[in-house]
Order: sequence, then structure tokens, then C-alpha cells
Amino acid sequence: MATRLILDTDPGIDDALAILLLAASPEIILEAITVTHGNTTVDKCLANALKLADFAGLQGVPIARGASSPLVKSLTVAEETHGDGGLGYATLPDSKILVSPKSAVDTIIDLVHQYPNEITILAIGPLTNIALAIHKDPSIIKLIDRIVVMGGSIHFPGNMTPDCEYNVFCDPEAFDIVLRAGLDFTLVPLDVTYKCLFTKGHVAKLSDARPAVKTFIEDSTRFYMEFHDEYQSIDGCAINDPLAAAILIKPDLVELRDYYMTIELKGEHTKGKTSVDHYKVLGKPANAKVAMEVDVEGFMDFFIERVKTL
Ligand code: BDR
Ligand code: CA
Repeated sequence: MATRLILDTDPGIDDALAILLLAASPEIILEAITVTHGNTTVDKCLANALKLADFAGLQGVPIARGASSPLVKSLTVAEETHGDGGLGYATLPDSKILVSPKSAVDTIIDLVHQYPNEITILAIGPLTNIALAIHKDPSIIKLIDRIVVMGGSIHFPGNMTPDCEYNVFCDPEAFDIVLRAGLDFTLVPLDVTYKCLFTKGHVAKLSDARPAVKTFIEDSTRFYMEFHDEYQSIDGCAINDPLAAAILIKPDLVELRDYYMTIELKGEHTKGKTSVDHYKVLGKPANAKVAMEVDVEGFMDFFIERVKTL
């Protein structure tokens, strides 16, 4: 059965790749794209989402503007990682798609009520929009089928502080609200996404893709690879968000473990750390499924084959 999906996103280079993957996947019914602040400002992320939807043939999918800032802390953007515009060296034509008149929060609430127990939310940016939707209408909690979140790091170093991953860093309080809500919550942390390094060798495999698709992926990831090389001494770039999208279609790409998970909100050095109770020392029931192993080449092949169909 196809998955009825709301994508909450902050495009962003790897968000863009996730949008391409979803657009190329008939197993997904994309009901809306809701946009948040994150990799850049919400206005730039929104402009990118509109262009990407046009580029990927997603005309007709509502695209809604979401939160411009986190719940508590001030705005963080990552232009050194994703470029001034958010898509690295890639450029796309202006979009003919209009922004939805409905806000991201109301889009989420209305779709969840329209399709009770059918909606999956894929959240690949800070969780501000989701937290605000839950706060505005807590009745949606019981009606959301599941949420899959790209974020956090369990045994892997953070990419913003030694312990904190970027999406969590941008809005830790929102992450806490969503984690505690009692949703069917799946986390795709850096522990698996940083194994999925997209390299120039993978770009070369796109030689028979549509030229515009190949050019977009090549130009966007070239910037992302330069960032990974300069700041993290990594050859290639971690395509975090597409992995979270891919497991909606091919769940066996990752091994999920049931854990009781918490997020640190107070630590002077550890704020935003996502911890799991591996040995069940707290005796609490699991509240999250966490991806801890990944079939790296299986995912890379899947991603490349799918985007070639665009
Ligand atoms: C996450 O942070 C963002 O920079 C990426 O788009 C991804 O969602 C990785 O930490
Ligand atoms: Ca993202």
C-alpha cells in the first residue's frame, strides 16, 4: 500500500535530494510539503521547495510556509554547509508553483484529520512545525500513523557540538515536545547517515540520468563535499535526509532498535544530546525506534536508480 506522506523540510542540499527521491517513488503519495527554518531562513527554504517541486514534477502538491524561528532559542542557519541560497552551487529556474494559502501548521492538522491514522510525517529539518501543530491541536497525536525523523546522534559525534546533531541543535525544545508526545517515532541519526557518503564515484554513475537531474545533483553535492572535506576531513558528503526518505519505501535498508530515548535540554556542554537507554537501566518502555545499522551500498544503489527515473 502506498504511504500517504507529509514532508516537513528545510531545503538544504540533502533535503533537495530527498525531495527528488520521493518524487521518483510511486510508493509515496505526497500530500504536502511543509517548510521550516533550518539550513537557511524559512523564506529561502520555501523558495527552494517551490523550485524543487517544479523541477521534480510535483506540481499540485501543496507547499506551505512554516515557522521562521525555533520555539525558544534564536535562529541558526548553515550557509557554510549548504551555501547562501541553500542548494550549494546548483541553480534552478524560478517556480511557477504558488505557496499554499494555508500555514504549515494548519496543513499538517487538516491533513491528519482528513486521513485519520493514514498520514506518515517525514521530518528532515528542525521539528518546530510539528511541535507547533501538536500544541495547537493535540488531538492529531492519536491520528498520525507514524513520524520518521532525521536527526540526533546516539554513539556518533554531533555535527554542531561534540554531542549534538544539527536538526536537534536548531530546535531542541521542539524535538523534546515531539519525542514526548507518544507518537510512533522513528529516528534516523547520524550513526547511520554518516555511513552513507555520496562521492564523485556516485556522481559518475548518474551519467545516464536526465542531464538536468545529473547537473543539479553534481552542482549541489560538489558544494556539500567541499564542506565535508574542509570541516570534517570526510571524502564525499553524508546524504542524511534521503536515507530517512528511503526507509519509507525500503524499510530493510536499516535495522531499527526499540529504545527509551531522551534529549538533554539543560547540559552546559551536552544540550541537544539524544541518549538511549541501551541496557534498560531506567526500566522505562521504549518510546522510539532508532536506526542503528544501514545497508550502505543498498541505499546508494537505490537512490541512484530512483533519481535516474526522474
Ligand atoms: C541534518 O542537518 C541538515 O543540515 C541536513 O539537511 C540534515 O537534515 C544533518 O545533521
Ligand atoms: Ca534537512
